[in-house]
Amino acid sequence: MGDCCLHRYASSRYGPGAVSSRNNSTTQKWTHFTCIHLRRLKTKSKLSGLGGGTEGFGFSWWGGGHAPISGSGSGGLFPGYYQVSCPQANDIVVSVLKRAISRDPRMAASLLRLHFHDCFVQGCDASVLLDSAAKIASEKNAGPNRNSLRGFDVIDEIKAELENACPQTVSCADILAMAARGSTVLSGGPSWELPLGRKDARTASLSLSNQNIPPPNSTIQTLISLFRRQGLNEIDLVSLSGGHTIGMARCTTFKQRLYNQNRNNQPDLTMERTYYLGLKSVCPQSGGDNNNSPLDASSPARFDNTYFKLILWGKGLLTSDQVLFSGNVGNTMQLVKRYAEDEGLFFEQFAKSMVRMGNIGALTGFKGEVRKNCRRVN
Ligand code: HEM
Repeated sequence: MGDCCLHRYASSRYGPGAVSSRNNSTTQKWTHFTCIHLRRLKTKSKLSGLGGGTEGFGFSWWGGGHAPISGSGSGGLFPGYYQVSCPQANDIVVSVLKRAISRDPRMAASLLRLHFHDCFVQGCDASVLLDSAAKIASEKNAGPNRNSLRGFDVIDEIKAELENACPQTVSCADILAMAARGSTVLSGGPSWELPLGRKDARTASLSLSNQNIPPPNSTIQTLISLFRRQGLNEIDLVSLSGGHTIGMARCTTFKQRLYNQNRNNQPDLTMERTYYLGLKSVCPQSGGDNNNSPLDASSPARFDNTYFKLILWGKGLLTSDQVLFSGNVGNTMQLVKRYAEDEGLFFEQFAKSMVRMGNIGALTGFKGEVRKNCRRVN
């Protein structure tokens, strides 16, 4: 039985006031438990369209934890894409991830987010990884990404090892998708059968990054319509927001809620009071913009369903988290309740929605290229 690394904050430091740092690199204390903590997905699917299925290439690193959830209908992508050309691709990704996450446990969250920010801008084509160049305005400089996205160096490390093992074979876009899945699993979340075969873009779009990535103070209507723009529905919106079960957010992303939510110099009244007071100590009215607070204050490094439980208790960190429950549009409130009650259901839907997100605008066949270096076109 292979074991997995599960990293958690020291329990004494739980809570919004407990963890903060002055800059985007974490200074928090984390403890590191090596454990076998992968919970099994409920064997009986409560959602339609999910089957068993086997991974197309070696994926034995958790030694039989979850049954992977299959990805079907993936527009030219398929799980066995590297079965012949680079059968060890996923093992290489996971071994670099393990190292990176043990150096910096927050890295799992950062890599999950990186895939999301890639997919919402001209599809999952690794456009987010391109540095500025003569014909490239890097997405790294877009509002939602600047001083915020992390993990580029880990992607470089993975790419370097893959280029060594299988030159010019594994795309940067697939690396992002594998890193997002591996990060989820290494944090205790579900696995899924991952369609592969994406090519990398030769362009990036700073303006689409600014337009398509939802801002943290979004209303529920804005969230629904930005997800719809990508072909994702309310179920995807709520389950994928559950990615906020791990990771951190800067004070600047939730300050408005604490001091002036509705342009009336009042806080957001949907916030639970002690949570609100704790957040104020991390995020003062003036200054402290880069102080970090966990998105899931109870278990910030563990992929579980407490994110949804916290929302029920008025302890969602971002407006965009809390409005899933309080927004009173469509079925999102019902979905938050169901995922809070049933972790297995959340895991199952998260996996399914990750496959759906991962299929957005994938370049296949002769479209795009396999970059040699993820930061620049060939
Ligand atoms: C629903 C709309 C969403 C909004 C408005 C949103 C917004 C944000 C914001 C503002 C942050 C903190 C950024 C910072 O402090 O600089 C963040 C962090 C994060 N987001 Fe989202 N997000 C959304 C959806 C998602 C999705 C779909 C995923 C993945 C499936 C995701 C995964 C994450 C993760 C893991 C972090 C923590 C990253 C870290 O610690 O480095 N988010 N998000």
